[in-house]
Amino acid sequence: MTLEGVDRSGKTTQVERLCASLAARGLPVGVRGVPGGSLREPGGTPVGEAVREVLLHRSHAVSPWAEALLYAAARAQLVADVVRPSLKDGLIVVLDRYIDSSLAYQGCARALGIDAVLQVNERATGGLLPDLTLLLKVDPGRASGRAGSPPDRLESEGLTLQTRVAAGYDELARRYPRRIVVLDGERPVAEVAAQVEQATLAALAALTQASATAPPAAPTPAAPPAAPASGTVSTTAASPTTASNAAAPSTRTGGK
Ligand code: TYD
Repeated sequence: MTLEGVDRSGKTTQVERLCASLAARGLPVGVRGVPGGSLREPGGTPVGEAVREVLLHRSHAVSPWAEALLYAAARAQLVADVVRPSLKDGLIVVLDRYIDSSLAYQGCARALGIDAVLQVNERATGGLLPDLTLLLKVDPGRASGRAGSPPDRLESEGLTLQTRVAAGYDELARRYPRRIVVLDGERPVAEVAAQVEQATLAALAALTQASATAPPAAPTPAAPPAAPASGTVSTTAASPTTASNAAAPSTRTGGK
């Protein structure tokens, strides 16, 4: 699952709180090697952190497609090295930003087009989409007034970019109404945290139910009958969803 939103929408705080509350419930949240941990994008691997440095902490101009491809490159590494192995281990993986960030920032705000950026990212991730995405909706003007670390390269571009990003997220929420749950990120932190937890638990229950009622997979002719198909994720809580079968929890909680 992923959390998304404009810069300073409070995602990172909420990801940390969510991981702690899921772990306190005894749920297997985390990534391989980092129990209870979450991951940031871009980042999470040595390659990803190097890309992050290039993208966010240098003052040079980066062309829109160079930007989109660098984010996709960092993501490809993260999925291969961390996300897929963690899902295979049955962990619930919580990501602080993922593909929707590229669709909103590069696809919409940089006007590369949602479909073009999605195509690249499907290649980069092997079509791995979240089962659930929580979009913290905060007015970009009010978000920019929130305290935080010094602005990075994208934040320095100011309100015009963030307003386009917010419009991009609205468009994505319309496009993927079952996967993306919109929450009011302007409520007090504890209230947002409660909504985040509630939406997550509802989605986990829906996924568990769906996998309990799903008929057993028919053996493929090529595979020996007893062997699981390669790449199958055994967990009921965090199976990967591909772009073509983006089954998502039907519960929509709170929000605008
Ligand atoms: P970060 O410090 O993680 O910002 P935040 O705490 O708000 O998430 O920096 C990530 C920046 O990179 C942020 O401005 C959004 C941008 N970004 C993209 O433009 N495309 C992407 O695919 C991703 C993952 C991030």
